[in-house]
Amino acid sequence: MSAGVRAAVAVERITRASRRSATLGAAVEGAVSLAMGEPDGGTPPAVVDAAIAALKDGRTRYAPMTGAPALRGAIAADVTGRTGRQTTPDEVVLTHGGSAALGAAFLALLNPGDKVLIPEPTYSLYADQAALAGAEVVWVPPRRDGSLDLEALRREAADARLLVLCNPGNPTGAVYGPAELLGVAELLLENPNLVLLSDEAYGTIVFDGVPFVSALSLERVPGQVLVCGTFSKSYAMTGWRLGYVIAPTALADPVSLIHRTLNGPLNTFVQDAALTALETSEEDLEQLRESYQARRDLVLAKLGTEPRVSLRRPQGAFYAFPRIDTTLGSDAMAARFAEAGVLVRPGSEFGASGEGHVRLSFATDTESLEAALERLLAAVRDMP
Ligand SMILES: Cc1ncc(COP(=O)(O)O)c(C=O)c1O
Repeated sequence: MSAGVRAAVAVERITRASRRSATLGAAVEGAVSLAMGEPDGGTPPAVVDAAIAALKDGRTRYAPMTGAPALRGAIAADVTGRTGRQTTPDEVVLTHGGSAALGAAFLALLNPGDKVLIPEPTYSLYADQAALAGAEVVWVPPRRDGSLDLEALRREAADARLLVLCNPGNPTGAVYGPAELLGVAELLLENPNLVLLSDEAYGTIVFDGVPFVSALSLERVPGQVLVCGTFSKSYAMTGWRLGYVIAPTALADPVSLIHRTLNGPLNTFVQDAALTALETSEEDLEQLRESYQARRDLVLAKLGTEPRVSLRRPQGAFYAFPRIDTTLGSDAMAARFAEAGVLVRPGSEFGASGEGHVRLSFATDTESLEAALERLLAAVRDMP
């Protein structure tokens, strides 16, 4: 920016608040990246074909401001089927990826100075978006067993506006069970001004046959729950930029207003192709789950051989969040791993309790994953 011209205070707030790492260390040639949260398989060919057909059909003009009615209807039906919550198309806000779903929700709900409860370690974008809105973040560390600290949340909840959960969890792969979610529902009942934003970006990727429980199934507090979703992870559509918010219309309408004020309408042919993505069969989704689970098991088996590494079993998503017994901090560990030919993210990026950990994504092919884990283990053995 030229001398004398200052960026808005929001820019300073985000820069100050952000835990996101600018660099992951200097990677050697041939390094394997386990740093990105991106499925290795490409977008299903049928979805690509649907986009091409839509483009050839002239579907290149503005879409309706509030999203294509057919897609809102199809998402409402999909959500109803997955969660059991009867969802109508006007409770679906289509967004520019999961990121814009979260951003629009933050801006629609938060005033400057509002208090946001963020259980950590968690996805780092939430704190940046809270800073964008001028809200104050209260980080809530987990209990010793990694579960949600409901008592700590209860102590903070009376004057809080928003609680942000990431379920299944990035970076830990933890999945909240019915008991934890019921505890959250109690908290919402006790605090009628508190809203839950549940980011369920990885909701179709859960392991060991455990059914995923969406926050949308919390029947006693329907007016206080928003769920964010995305096509990025379930359908390997990270570059297409399509997500959504599900909420009662009293919350969905303000979110939609903010989203269209920032973005205008969404890409017409991407919305057409998303209809095909939603037709992905349960068998195909199950196959994908099994393939991630096999790689999760490989990570558990390999890292389990090293006494200096401890790892909680990921139950969903495609991340592992090992703790490494070394005097090095997370940033220094990530830099060491980069030198050893593996890119990972420092655990401190996800909250203070992530210090001492790194996050690795196992959404990569088995051969590269095995090679990367060998390099990682060799580097761990050399750590002070
Ligand atoms: C938990 C979580 N939520 C949301 C997103 C953003 O998804 P999208 O790529 O659709 O913006 C990510 C991406 O990594 C994520 O991990």
